[in-house]
Amino acid sequence: MYAQQVKSTGARVKSLEEMDAQERAFQERIDAGIKIEPKDWMPEGYRKTLIRQISQHAHSEIVGQLPEGNWITSAPTLDRKAILIAKVQDEAGHGLYLYCAAETLGVSRDQMTKDLLSGKAKYSSIFNYPTLTWADIGAIGWLVDGAAIMNQVPLQRCSFGPYSRAMIRVCKEESFHQRQGYDIMMKLCDGTVEQKEMAQDALNRWWWPSLMMFGPSDNDSVHSAQSMAWKIKQDSNDELRQKFVDQTVPQADYLGLKPPDPDIKWNEARGAYDFGEVDWEEFFRVVKGGGPCNKERLAARNKAWDDGAWFRDGLMAYAATRDARKVAAE
Ligand code: 3HC
Repeated sequence: MYAQQVKSTGARVKSLEEMDAQERAFQERIDAGIKIEPKDWMPEGYRKTLIRQISQHAHSEIVGQLPEGNWITSAPTLDRKAILIAKVQDEAGHGLYLYCAAETLGVSRDQMTKDLLSGKAKYSSIFNYPTLTWADIGAIGWLVDGAAIMNQVPLQRCSFGPYSRAMIRVCKEESFHQRQGYDIMMKLCDGTVEQKEMAQDALNRWWWPSLMMFGPSDNDSVHSAQSMAWKIKQDSNDELRQKFVDQTVPQADYLGLKPPDPDIKWNEARGAYDFGEVDWEEFFRVVKGGGPCNKERLAARNKAWDDGAWFRDGLMAYAATRDARKVAAE
């Protein structure tokens, strides 16, 4: 059942017969839907891929605050400013839950921070695109958080307990994120001709990068086969991408907007939309650091880290004196 061969990458998943007794018992727990907890035995590969995915997910939440954060001081009304502040604050909390979930696997927060600040760690490529107008904030909520929800809802059933529980909490807040974004798009599409044009321009720029959030095509996905066998992933990248397109095209129709893909067409036989090919050359270029804002995002995170040094030092100094007082009192 597991001996799937990922065609282009050759990533191979062990069959039950190839597993030793401990691995087989582990896999049988997964197949029985029993959550794996941090203290349980787990194959090193399971631990490593979870640290990889959860830390990248956490980094995405933290870096994801930057494109929207730039618009807090330029929001068109006090209400919009308050909503955007609440959303950006939520993302910081999502990052916190996810870093905590990753730490239960034995990686330190300091190490994860170092990996992000040095440029070694990945975060979602979507956050390397600029937010040029207020409509981008609507498109991000509607499309980026919409894609994130599509990807995060199945992660609530992830086999690793702390990740699954973090996702249950995150998903409760994501729906508000998507609703407020779509509400911005509805207001703009109901507004002046220029406002509707601004909404269409934002859709044009955010549509394809949002489809890239689901990862490379299944044929090029290095981790999917194993992650699905370990029930970290419930669906493949292409399956979730298709679900996102099927859900979002009617929403664009309702707004009177057109996604920038002439190949989008309802396919009755499939009961789904056909759509064009993602520009994988752009995807891998942005993932490798060649996106419009990669450098700016990393510089912003490094500046925030440096600017916060005084606060961290103060906390450490306080902790040292508090511990010294405790020892003296004993
Ligand atoms: N951006 C950057 N890197 C990406 C990527 C993307 N959009 N999609 C895939 N990759 C990377 C993978 O990390 C992997 O590289 P690695 O081996 O160095 O880690 C490589 O491309 C091959 O991809 P795979 O499909 O084999 O990798 P996965 O099985 O990990 O699938 C994923 C990729 C679907 C993104 C999966 O990691 C996942 O579901 N992650 C959790 C969800 C997540 O991180 N979402 C990011 C957005 S968070 C967000 O939007 C916050 C919201 O509040 C706004």
